Amino acid sequence: MTIHADASHDLSFDEFDEAHSLRQEAAAFDRIADTSTLSGSPTRRDLLRGGVTLGLAAFLVRYGAVSASAATDSADLIDGFDFSPLPASTADSVLVPPGYSAKVFLRWGDPLTTQAADPASLNDGLGTAATQREAVGDNNDGMAFFSANGRHVLAVNNEYTNIHNHLGHAPRNDDERALTQAACGITLVEVVAGPNGWRPRRSGSLNRRITPETPIEIAGPARGHSMMRTSDDPDGTRVLGTFANCGCGQTPWGTYLTCEENFNGYFSASDPAYTPDDAQRRYGLRAKDWGYGWAQRDARFDVSRQPNEANRMGYVVEIDPFDPEAMPRKRTALGRMKHENAEVTRAADGRIVVYMGDDERGEYLYRFTSAAPWTADDPNPGRLLDDGTLAVARFEADGTGRWLDLTPGTTGMSEAEICIFTRLAASKVDATTMDRPEWVAAHPESGEVFCALTNNKHRGMRANAGGDAQPVDAVNPRAKNRYGQIVRWRPDGGDHAAASFSWDLFAMAGNPTVHDDAYAGSPNITPENMFNAPDGVTVDTRGLLWIQTDGKMTNRGDFSGMGNNQMLAANPRTGEIKRFLIAPRGAEVTGLTWSPDRRTMFVGIQHPGEKFESTWPDGSMPRSAIVAVTREDDGRIG
Ligand code: FEO
Ligand code: CA
Ligand code: CA
Repeated sequence: MTIHADASHDLSFDEFDEAHSLRQEAAAFDRIADTSTLSGSPTRRDLLRGGVTLGLAAFLVRYGAVSASAATDSADLIDGFDFSPLPASTADSVLVPPGYSAKVFLRWGDPLTTQAADPASLNDGLGTAATQREAVGDNNDGMAFFSANGRHVLAVNNEYTNIHNHLGHAPRNDDERALTQAACGITLVEVVAGPNGWRPRRSGSLNRRITPETPIEIAGPARGHSMMRTSDDPDGTRVLGTFANCGCGQTPWGTYLTCEENFNGYFSASDPAYTPDDAQRRYGLRAKDWGYGWAQRDARFDVSRQPNEANRMGYVVEIDPFDPEAMPRKRTALGRMKHENAEVTRAADGRIVVYMGDDERGEYLYRFTSAAPWTADDPNPGRLLDDGTLAVARFEADGTGRWLDLTPGTTGMSEAEICIFTRLAASKVDATTMDRPEWVAAHPESGEVFCALTNNKHRGMRANAGGDAQPVDAVNPRAKNRYGQIVRWRPDGGDHAAASFSWDLFAMAGNPTVHDDAYAGSPNITPENMFNAPDGVTVDTRGLLWIQTDGKMTNRGDFSGMGNNQMLAANPRTGEIKRFLIAPRGAEVTGLTWSPDRRTMFVGIQHPGEKFESTWPDGSMPRSAIVAVTREDDGRIG
């Protein structure tokens, strides 16, 4: 994604963050690895015929579960996997296979109230802060569909905004800054079924916007801690807003979890002498923001004046979609990081387990386990997310792994400190630095769990932001990893609370038309299905794994033949992967949910037109939007 508001350059988020955030000097290991580039990575031939070099044999054993010849046989056919896969495309449209249709369902700027003006008709299509507060936010990301008592709500994250791109400059005054704030946060919209399918209800009484200015309760161990107190909130119990809302989760008690990711880019310092401390540096805070200028409108975003405000961002926030008056709660027990999503499942004894990725190069994969089990008659189940244990994953080369608990005993930090400075805690327990953990998805029946590791150009090259080494290893097997992989693990005993697991790589993305080494990808990557940068992953009720990409769209060089970003379906039993949907130009595919009857699939299309010309979906200004995908025979689709 391109996430900075300074229109004077055209760097991706990674590139911009890298260029402007102070980082740890390369560790000794990394300087050594620097001279050996790809020599530590397995070649494609290694993958196909069996490992030859140290460490690779074990890698191959784990990889062997999936093979190129794993063609679907009837016994392994999962319902819905029989569609005709799409060839890659660079068209400026959403494409789905024959027999399916995709219609625009909800766009950035669609009004949520009957009295609200349509932002798309004002201010050259951008609207104003006032109209945006009553309209669908920008850059839809994770989303979830909720049903109760005959009513339905779609909850949608609005991760960031591209308003600066449309303005042609960074926000220059408070009106423009307020407009960018109002475009971020969460949109909740009531939806109804009609003769022509599902539609948003403009007058729905459950329609709601949550923005960077909405009051939010701070819950869990960090509540009230001295590092959470500010001059506006001397008790450290209530914060204004949530933003940088990336992926999501859904609790069994019917609430929405929204995950704060790249919060650091909205903070800046007015004091020219400001230098970030170690903790701030670890979280990417620095003197300069990414161009949004929020600190100039609201001093709480000025880290030199309100250093603790940033400690109140980077959490998982719980929202009740059926109570517009209920204050959202930051569940600090789930840790502070660049949260991607929050995959909620249950342990054998009923405890709540939440898997979470921290999306930055060389950061970690987490698991939260509640102290108490969930029961359907619990009148206050949200409290389960306030008391539990965070753990971080360690992957061994022999295909086993362990969860390392983050406790005062293992980290030397208090419970509250572990929740506020989770990255620093994770660095103390010898966990595995990962290639940017994105979404986690748990299979509802098999117990398998998948995590997309999107890419990591620093693998084998240098340390993470905290100085933790990033050697080429079994689970992150390629130096300068530009394509990404999907790791799969199975908890021992099928119990998500188990301390150990076994794992393999479900897929390594790559380009077999360009490379004949490890960059060709795993054997289940072919010229027909290749992609780069897996990001969103979701397992549907039939057991298909859906893979959404946020990758390079140049369609040249390493990425030739891949076309635009896409969504693929994978059969976890055979490893087969097929391309199902292609995004318009410049967009990523992110966010996936279903209607209760599973006949409508909602797919998010984020930032069309970013770096590439697009007029999707209306033939004019590009707008992020959600599409509703159905089967022409009205069959189930997930
Ligand atoms: Fe918001 Fe890591 O994607
Ligand atoms: Ca993402
Ligand atoms: Ca993304």
